[in-house]
Amino acid sequence: MTALPVPAGKETAEAAIVAALGSRSIVLVGMMGAGKSTVGRRLATRLNLPFVDADHEIEAAAGKSISDIFAEHGEGHFRDGEAKVIARLLQNGPVVLATGGGAVLREDTRARIRQQAISIWLKADAETILRRVRRRSNRPLLQTGDQAETVTRLIAEREPIYSQAADIIVVSREVAHERIADECLAALCDRLTSSAAAHPAPSP
Ligand code: S3P
Repeated sequence: MTALPVPAGKETAEAAIVAALGSRSIVLVGMMGAGKSTVGRRLATRLNLPFVDADHEIEAAAGKSISDIFAEHGEGHFRDGEAKVIARLLQNGPVVLATGGGAVLREDTRARIRQQAISIWLKADAETILRRVRRRSNRPLLQTGDQAETVTRLIAEREPIYSQAADIIVVSREVAHERIADECLAALCDRLTSSAAAHPAPSP
């Protein structure tokens, strides 16, 4: 764990981040396997905020696994539930929220995140993602004949959307998750404690 620079007049960088957030949440976006849940949990611990995983909340609300939701009702139904769950979670900020990789495909969800959160895109390359997702078979979109082709295609389709949705980009790679969490905290501190971001101008 690396100590963050302490902004003038504040107790710690972590305290400065929490103070600047107010009721806004920190939302992690990015591809499956980018480390949103693992890094999110560490961020929440460091900031002493609740951690919420949107996928787990969707499963709890539906009373079934994501694989079963996809198999029984289809992706459209899953996306509707996902948008509702994220809207509810963002109303109860501040939390650290890990979203599913496809959550920000919906414009309404992107708009909510813009209004009610600061978002971090954990950007991982295809190789890193493949190495991580191969360990598990719980992601219906990756149950295809050619996982590498699917991941490459999803990255190409989604990166422009993640880039549009995110306030901050942190490159996720094969280093300790704590180091990625440190980089997220440094970027959050930077962005939130500059006066423009702490008091965003109203949209035109
Ligand atoms: C999905 C990502 C998954 C889960 C679902 C769909 C996606 O979440 O929401 O399988 O469309 O990328 P993770 O990103 O947490 O794996």
